[in-house]
Amino acid sequence: MQVDELLKPFPLKEFHPIPRALLGPGSHEMIGPEALKIGMRRPLVMTSGLRGTEIVNKLVESLKYHGLEPSVYDKVESNPKDYNVMDSVAMYQQDGCDGFISIGGGSSHDACKGARISVAHDGRNVNEFEGFNKSENPKNPPHIAVSTTAGTGSETSWAYVITDTTTDPANPHKYVAFDDHSVVTLAVDDPVLYYECPSHFTAQCGFDVLAHASEPYVSRLDFTPSLGSALFSAELVGEHLRTATWHADNLPAREGMMYAQYTAAQAFNSGGLGVIHSISHAVSAFYDTHHGLNNAIALPRVWAWNLPVAYKRYARLAEALGVDTTGMNDVKAADAAVAAAIRLLRDVGITERFTDITQDTHPKNRLGAGPTEFYKKASTIKGDAADVDRVSNHILGDACTPGNPKETTFETVRPVVEHCFNGDLDDLIS
Ligand SMILES: [Fe+2]
Repeated sequence: MQVDELLKPFPLKEFHPIPRALLGPGSHEMIGPEALKIGMRRPLVMTSGLRGTEIVNKLVESLKYHGLEPSVYDKVESNPKDYNVMDSVAMYQQDGCDGFISIGGGSSHDACKGARISVAHDGRNVNEFEGFNKSENPKNPPHIAVSTTAGTGSETSWAYVITDTTTDPANPHKYVAFDDHSVVTLAVDDPVLYYECPSHFTAQCGFDVLAHASEPYVSRLDFTPSLGSALFSAELVGEHLRTATWHADNLPAREGMMYAQYTAAQAFNSGGLGVIHSISHAVSAFYDTHHGLNNAIALPRVWAWNLPVAYKRYARLAEALGVDTTGMNDVKAADAAVAAAIRLLRDVGITERFTDITQDTHPKNRLGAGPTEFYKKASTIKGDAADVDRVSNHILGDACTPGNPKETTFETVRPVVEHCFNGDLDDLIS
């Protein structure tokens, strides 16, 4: 049975667990004592390295100061690959580690969550756990997740996202694993660690938050306990993302985005996601582009596409983003939500089409430098019919798609995807 047949129309709701958390400036100083309290002695630190910052060095030295003996795996890639996970599992086993500490954004946390599941299953390949609650052993090693961006929410969610490079190297597949056993032991969200996040990543990660907020708010899961937190996190993004992007060390803005990310992730944890994320996963699978960047490009198009089935909810999102809807009916207010999202995207300097992403304009996106034959041929995003078709097909198998409020078929979603590659955002503003 297909995943969409299993999940629609969501007659039963389920609340998924969230972990204990330490939040606020200075919370990163508690990592060593907390690791000891949890029982770690030899943690495996998993990170992308956060090169250009001193964050990893400082935190590793702090762990040593508290008497821990960390090993460090610092090769997690953006859009973490299955081999990142399995290489870290090998290091964990060789070094006799007894817990995990992930430091970074979603890539580091997600790879670590996958590694932890693998370790608990004698090193079985992480790709075996794609899907919903596929792991069988709840006794994972402890895991502390330390976020250095306001975007992912992975530190407080039951989801992790991995790119499978093994099943068909010519057709990479990025999947979401939702697993209650993957929830971390302790989340640490310290806005001071965001100060070194560059403006373009701050902006892109902020749009990941807005996607995490808006998708459960309009989802066909319609999970009542998520609606208030979803709307409030959208309001926090509207209030703080511009300042956080352009004023790196503005504590109120960084702290506002921290709560936005934390709250939005808890909204989607049980409230579901949608086609913004499905488009984003597909484009990352083929081009290794940044998750938040993809979400930002997809978000206004998917909002505009979904409007007819969720006008009232989008009207409230307009208000959350600061639009004065006095005198507007819900249809007009919903249209204003799309315009407000586009205005925010432009204000924080995000590019508007997938075909605008090049190695020159977005050098961290590794176009043409990925691990398989497919990536080596994918140095330019063409946005041709083949691109639009393969992204549209990938969307249909994504675990986020069934939650989208509008019925998603190849025929209905293809024009949305086409617009993401080649369309003009001004088309969406009435
Ligand atoms: Fe996301």
